[in-house]
Amino acid sequence: MKKNILIIGGSLRAKSFNKYLASNLIEIRKEKFNFEIFSDFNLLPHYNTDDHNQDNWPKTLLELEEKIKKADGVIFVTPEYNFSVPGYLKNCIDWISRLPNQPLDRKPVCIQSASLGPLGGARVQYHLRQILVFLNAKVMNKNEIFVTFAKQKFDENSGKLTDAITIDFIRKQLDAFYIFIDE
Ligand SMILES: Cc1cc2nc3c(=O)[nH]c(=O)nc-3n(C[C@H](O)[C@H](O)[C@H](O)COP(=O)(O)O)c2cc1C
Repeated sequence: MKKNILIIGGSLRAKSFNKYLASNLIEIRKEKFNFEIFSDFNLLPHYNTDDHNQDNWPKTLLELEEKIKKADGVIFVTPEYNFSVPGYLKNCIDWISRLPNQPLDRKPVCIQSASLGPLGGARVQYHLRQILVFLNAKVMNKNEIFVTFAKQKFDENSGKLTDAITIDFIRKQLDAFYIFIDE
């Protein structure tokens, strides 16, 4: 049976390699998963406790909450900024963390990252894992996907992932995640 996956990913910029990566997932294992992508980080204001009460949640957050609840699993696909989690993604997670019955609690999660550099976002993944400990998400340890030297791995115009080895790694991670969701 197909599983429903919410991808929380990409970056704010239009030609984001992480957005490209997220879109490519849809093709790579479409026989096993239905994918939906959330990347509207810019529709969430900066979290400020002063401005916020329980009757005043941003519409985008409530929509995201529903998407997470409905999904069998969540895949984060993120760039690394200054060795860590980009501000807009951290802000998004901060909002999620304030929800009553916050929806990432025990939710199966896996992580991917793409960067221009030789580590492919290794450091952001471990910071993100640390944050997800607090949210009590069920994060898969292996397989890991670090898309290094992203400029060389995507067709710049179409955004298509062209690197066969990377595609094979992703296929293996998605297969592992399919099983992990039910464990
Ligand atoms: C503010 C900022 C910080 C960055 N820090 C890192 C970093 O720590 N490690 C890294 O590999 N790349 C870093 N980069 C380069 C990103 O890998 C590159 O911009 C990448 O294209 C971002 O992902 P995107 O294409 O999905 O937007 C940084 C870029 C920006 C804008």
